[in-house]
Amino acid sequence: MSKTVLIVVAHPDPASLNGALKEIAISELRELGHRVLLSDLYGMGWKAPFDGGDFLDRRDPTRLSLVTESGHAYASGTQTPDVMAEQEKLAAADAVIFQFPLWWFSMPAILKGWVDRVFAYGLAYGYKNAGNQYRYGDGGFAGKRALLSTTVGGPAIDYSPRGINGPLEDLLFHITHGTLFFAGMTVLPTHAIYAVDRLEREAADDAFMRWRGRLRGLFTDAPIPFRHQNAGDYPDRHVLDESVAPGVRGFAAHVDTRVHTEGQPRGSET
Ligand SMILES: Cc1cc2nc3c(=O)[nH]c(=O)nc-3n(C[C@H](O)[C@H](O)[C@H](O)COP(=O)(O)O)c2cc1C
Repeated sequence: MSKTVLIVVAHPDPASLNGALKEIAISELRELGHRVLLSDLYGMGWKAPFDGGDFLDRRDPTRLSLVTESGHAYASGTQTPDVMAEQEKLAAADAVIFQFPLWWFSMPAILKGWVDRVFAYGLAYGYKNAGNQYRYGDGGFAGKRALLSTTVGGPAIDYSPRGINGPLEDLLFHITHGTLFFAGMTVLPTHAIYAVDRLEREAADDAFMRWRGRLRGLFTDAPIPFRHQNAGDYPDRHVLDESVAPGVRGFAAHVDTRVHTEGQPRGSET
């Protein structure tokens, strides 16, 4: 069935590897019959800083509380047109692909600025103005799939489970879990191409083939099995129950390694 996919790309040069991966995504997704929306952040001249200029009708002109103003602007329809246009694309999207080079183990600042400004209070956090009731699996973006696609300068071994940089999924946990899953999205395992600055022709062809494979699995691949806040593992909505993943600390505790089928009630897992 035809779906809508939003591609958010953060690279200043369309002729870059990231630019090529974006083009492949557009053509592959269209071939699959999907509608593609694009946010080329550098190309659009996206304003990255989140500041007073984001609020056209300040609730409190004397002190800038960004959370309060974000909630007010979202609820009253006084956000800036560029933010509203991105939220409309998000609303239409069944899946969102983020294409970016890994910079300092994270996303480029322009993409962080897109998140800061577009993920408004009342939508991506503070959903329904209900504090933390809807987060981590629930929220304004529930039902949408998300996929990070990143190019990495370092070799894969540096990002292996005991590699010196730390595992890539751990480094990007604040995006996959803390940002996308927080806002309700179903997040797929990150797609990474390593050692990109020394990519030979053959390796590049192989990387492009693997990328096309991931695009074909966008709506069928198993997501990262993050634990949902409201499915019983966090009785007080804050901390894992003692009986869940006993002895496991840190990021790994929030990933349910037991095999389960997406969409099944959590209690029905074996
Ligand atoms: C500001 C900056 C920060 C970078 N940080 C990292 C990093 O943390 N880890 C890494 O492996 N490579 C890092 N790199 C290398 C980039 O990931 C690499 O150059 C990029 O993925 C290549 O993609 P492109 O050809 O599309 O620009 C960094 C590069 C720049 C410019």
